[in-house]
Order: sequence, then C-alpha cells, then structure tokens
Amino acid sequence: MPILFHENAREFHLYNDQISYIMQIMKNDQIANLYYGSCIRDRENFSYLVRTKYCSEAAYTSVDEDHKLSLQYIQQEYPSYGTSDFRYPAYCIKQNNGSSITNFTYKSHEIFPGKKKLPGLPATYVESEEEATTLEIRLVDDLINTELVLSYTIFEGLPVIARNVRFINLGVAAICLERVMSACVDLPEDDFTMVHLVGAWGREHYVKERELGEGIQGIYSMRGSSSAEHNPFIALRRNNTTQFSGEVYGFSLVYSGNHLEQVEVDHNNMTRVIIGIHPDTFQWELTAGAMFQTPEAVMVYSDKGINGMSQTFHQLFRNRLVRGYWRDKARPVLVNNWEATQTAFTEEKILQLAAKAKELGIEMLVLDDGWFGDRDGEEAGLGDWYVKNNKKLPDGIEGLADKIERIGLKFGLWFEPEMVNKDSDLYRQHPDWIIHTPGRFQSPSRFQHVLDFSRKEVIDYIYDLMDKCLSKAKISYVKWDMNRYITECYSVTQLPEQQGKIFHQYVLGVYDLYERLISKYPTILFESCSSGGARFDPGMLYYAPQAWASDNSDAIDRIKIQYGTSYVYPLSSIGAHVSHVPNLQNGRTTPLSTRGNVAFFGAFGYEMDLGELSEDDSKQVKEQVEFYKKYVKLFHKGTFYRMDNPFSKDVASWMVISEDRNEALVGYYRLNLSVNCGWKYLKLTGLDPDKLYSVNQGSQLSYGDELMKIGIMIDEFEWEMQNIEYGSKIVHLLCVENKEVS
Ligand code: DGJ
Repeated sequence: MPILFHENAREFHLYNDQISYIMQIMKNDQIANLYYGSCIRDRENFSYLVRTKYCSEAAYTSVDEDHKLSLQYIQQEYPSYGTSDFRYPAYCIKQNNGSSITNFTYKSHEIFPGKKKLPGLPATYVESEEEATTLEIRLVDDLINTELVLSYTIFEGLPVIARNVRFINLGVAAICLERVMSACVDLPEDDFTMVHLVGAWGREHYVKERELGEGIQGIYSMRGSSSAEHNPFIALRRNNTTQFSGEVYGFSLVYSGNHLEQVEVDHNNMTRVIIGIHPDTFQWELTAGAMFQTPEAVMVYSDKGINGMSQTFHQLFRNRLVRGYWRDKARPVLVNNWEATQTAFTEEKILQLAAKAKELGIEMLVLDDGWFGDRDGEEAGLGDWYVKNNKKLPDGIEGLADKIERIGLKFGLWFEPEMVNKDSDLYRQHPDWIIHTPGRFQSPSRFQHVLDFSRKEVIDYIYDLMDKCLSKAKISYVKWDMNRYITECYSVTQLPEQQGKIFHQYVLGVYDLYERLISKYPTILFESCSSGGARFDPGMLYYAPQAWASDNSDAIDRIKIQYGTSYVYPLSSIGAHVSHVPNLQNGRTTPLSTRGNVAFFGAFGYEMDLGELSEDDSKQVKEQVEFYKKYVKLFHKGTFYRMDNPFSKDVASWMVISEDRNEALVGYYRLNLSVNCGWKYLKLTGLDPDKLYSVNQGSQLSYGDELMKIGIMIDEFEWEMQNIEYGSKIVHLLCVENKEVS
C-alpha cells in the first residue's frame, strides 16, 4: 500500500518510487503538511517538521498552552481564514449568524485501492485497482454539523497526486459555500519561479515565467470558461530548474469554467498555492443533507525539469483522463473546409474538396460552420441544428454524409451547441433561454448569446436536435465549438439566493450534454474548440480527446502555441492543421514543408482549398499524409521533449522518442530569415547513449551519446542559397544496433 498511517505520530505518508507526501493530524486535530517532494524513506515520526514558535504578534490555537502552535507558521492541507492564520484560505463557509469562522477537525480516514469517480465531473481514472491508492480524510465542524472530506489519490509509478474535496451538510440549517478550492499546498520555501500559460485569441498558451515575490501572484478566468487568457495550470519551478533538470511542482485543474490559481508568499518565506473554482463568481447554498463536490486538481512533481513535468502530464492525461474508443487509436487525417470556404460553400464545392482529399490520402472531411438553419454568416442560425433550406445541401446532411462516404472518406460535422443567435427559430420560440440578467442589456458577442445550460430543459432540447442529426447521418466526428464568453450571468428560473451557482451549473450542464452524446455515440471522435484554444483544458479532454489549439494556423505562430500547449497537454490532443498561404490570420507565407513539419507534432490535418494546390504541392501533401500515417503512433505515444525555446530564440526544436528509445523524430525550425548563420549542433535528448542510430535512413550512423553530447549538425546553408524564409527539418532516428557494453 503506498499510503501509510502511523498511528502514534498520527501521520500519513503517501509515497511511490518518485514522490513522498506527508501529513500529520496535529494536536488541534487539524491537518498539516510536513513534506511534499522527491520520495524519501518512511519513518515512524516526522513531527520535528511541525513549525512552532512563540512570537508576540502571533495568535495561537486553543489547544496550545505554551502559545507555540500558531496556524500562520503551519503548512496546512486545507486552511481556513481567521483563526490564527491570515493568509488566503482554501475555503470559506458563511453561516446563518453571519460568521465565516470554522473548525474542521479530524474524525476518521479511509485508505482504499483504486480511485472513485467524481459525480458529474471529469476526472482522471484507473482501469484496475492496483493503479492507484486513495486516502480520504473525514473532518467535521461540530458547531455547524458539516463534514469535509479531503481526498488524495496517488498513482503507482507516476509522480502524481490527484485531489478533490467534498462538503456534506449534516445539519438542519443551510450554509453558504463561498470558496471551495480543490487543493491547497503550502511549501516551506519561496525560491520559485511561477510558470503559466497566457494568451488571447490567436496566441493561446504562450509561456510566461515570473520569479515569486512576497504577496500574491495568480492567474484566473471569470469568463465562464477556462479561457484563452489563462489556462488552468501553473507550475512552480526552482529558480535554477531548466527544461531538462531540477525540481518543478505542476498543478492542473480538471475543469472548464471559472478558475483561480493563486500563489502567496508570506512574511515567513512560505509559499501557498491554491487552485480551484474562482471564488469571486461562486456561491453555493448547501441545504441540509446536500453534498458539494469540487473539481479535481492534479499535482505533478518532477525532479527532471519542466520536460519531466510535461511528460508526466502527457502520460496521465493521454492514458487516464482521455477515455473511450479513440483514446488509443490513430486519429484520422482530416481536412476541414473552414479556411477554404467559411460559410459560403456549396455541396459541389465540398464534394470536390473531398475527392481531392481522397486522392491525397486524407481520411476524413469535416464540414464546419454554415450548414444549419439560416446560417450564411455570423448573424443567424445558431441553435437550429437542422438543414432548413436545401440551397446549400440539396440532400441534407444525410445525403452529404453518404456522398462523402461513397468517395471513401469519413464525415465530420461542426456544432456550437451552447449558443444561439437572436435570428434563429430557437430564440424566437424561447427568448428566455439565454443567460441574461432581467432589465439589463444583453451584451452580444459575435452576434450570439449563451444558452442557459444550468436548465435541464434547454440541454434536453439541444440534445434532441443533435441526436436526430447524429442518428440519421453517417457522422464519425463532431467539432464542438464555443465562440464567446459569458456576460450578465443570471438564470431567470433560479431564486435570487441561487444566482451564485449559475457559472458552475452551466459547466455541469455542458459536461452532462457531452456525457449523454458520447454514451450514445461512443465511436464518434469529438474535438473541442473555442474560437481555437479558449477552452483547451483537462475537463474537456475527458469528453473530447482532441482540441483545436488555435484559429491562428500560421506555422511560425503555431510553434509557440504548440510549444506552450505541450507544457500540459499530450500531442495527440493538440489539433494542428496545415493551412493556405498567405496565412488567413497574419498574412505570413511559410513553406508547405514547414507547415507540415509543425502540424505533425499534433493531431494532424489540413485546413485549405486542396483544389488550389499546384501539382508539386499536391505531391508534397500526399507525402506528408503518408509520412504522418506511418509515424502517428510515434508522434502520439512517444515521449516528447522541448529543446530550443521559440520564446527566447530565433529557432525552435523538439523531438518525440519511442518508449523503447529505438526510434525518434526531431523537428527543427527557423523562425526568421538569416544570413551566413553557420552550423547548428542540435543536441538531442532522451536517447539511449549506447544505441547506434541511423540518422535520416542511413545518411549517418551515430551513437546516442554522440547525438546527445555533440548533437546533429544542422546546416542552414541550403535555405540561405534559395532564400527560404522559415525553413525547417525533420530528422528521423532509428536504432540499428546495441553497442556491446563490456
Ligand atoms: C471558430 C473555430 O475556431 C474555427 O475553426 C471555426 O470553426 C469557426 N469558429 C466557425 O465559426
């Protein structure tokens, strides 16, 4: 059992071969953290780690005659505010008498193999009980008769602890949950740099770093979804940690709504991390007998640098967050018509695109926005998920799907289930179904409004429409888009005191619709999208194994976007397409080879009018498709390493390597035009030093140690000679022999 309980010391030790996480039930019966980090040997008692001291400015706990146990010195597991600790708390409960003071004390605990599901919420899972062990600690506040359960699951063989919290009101009076973070971690030092992913539409997941200082630093979303601005992830790396070595603590929230990740450094040089639903847009009335479940927070520890942290997230999310039919399958190479036609397509055009795609080896055609209702632009039709007039599609979606299948491709379709245009049949019938505040302006965004998914009848209605469409036509893939944030959040069916629930209930409604659809259509591949990567989060991955990373399909910008996205998310989840040049978003022209070489490191496809390709380009696309199909397993299941950082250099590089370290693919990219820049020695990583590798099908033979210590010589001269801007290379390595080690 990798969770031990030492009865005398009242200490828990969660451990595996990589990490240790140690907690103590203190003498005031609250829970302290004693250590979190690289695995250490177990012992009966770690109580010397409890920080106690007398200081005249401190307030002390009730059980403490010596005036030494002040919560402000203690690394706590799930702290409250106002009883000798003044830092930001993990939770806050407003009671009937107006007080928020609580005292949750230890009552019991349970250690069991495996991991429970979270009701209505996405979460990591196990396939057999040996894969993980869970500890649940039950605490009760006797005055308000409320139970708090802290849950910790440690995975076997992975430096991962997944946490969640549930509150149960055992009393007779309602209480109000005003803050319910999923996890809090107090670290005893502050020599960290905070790493996070910032952005906006078209430049999602840019890597940002800042050294911690006293006070608060944090990221958040209050936009109703996880957002392009701040991904629900932060990491604390030691100030000297690199991509390849050193300690990192990563935190990721398995949730798609408003979130807060906050780091506080206090006057004792202690660092407190809290992660969970954003408290400022949340309030939950917990009635007698009711339970509230927080989303899951995943904590990853690495002493192998930032790459090590990412590799753990990739392994966990790829294998034990993504579910179902498509989890382990090679994803189809698709072409999406959006950049080629936007909403102005005809069936003939789509069939031409499909025929050309088939010729090039592409496996699926995805029809994007514009096929439903009165949709000829952004202003109408959302909500009417049926072909209304047959002007674009004479035989409807069923007819088109049949024709595409006859060409020999699979067919995929775009929906934006959570949205409605005011110019739609749905809105005309149900104007009160949108999220809006009575008497206030309803701020439009992209001419659309958000349906009130906190209401079951709204979800049922959308489910029925989608179900009709999916059951009649041969649809193998669904792109689920979400193109605006939530304003004037309010639900007209809820009482005033329930309005603080709406943001969270909305997210639960989205999860419910997803769950119903994937249960009924388990073989459909879902791809989530939100104007690109505005809802690219672990919550979504539980339902949709891949996500469109950005509407910015320019290869050079995409290098940064994919580099940042890979901090947390596996390559198999990162929708990446080769698109037309000059690029639709930024007008840049890049070589077709570079566009392919970037998109290979993702869930690959095309987003262009294939009919416009020259003969040479068609040949190249065909080769790209063949290449990707040949190596899709390596791209999606291999171990991924970032090397040259595009945020600080004019080049970028990364590589994937198979689990047995026999085969690897390396991507090297120049982000500008350079003159006479000499040779680059690209030092590889992760190879077996004793294996002999053929480089690019035998053009060179080198041992792993040479490739890692000397590197591959990259000569950019040919790009210079031909004036090729934004050149790139893919290097293939294959083990040809194991050196005898004497
Ligand atoms: C935003 C998406 O990111 C695009 O790929 C496309 O599907 C449009 N929406 C369609 O409206």
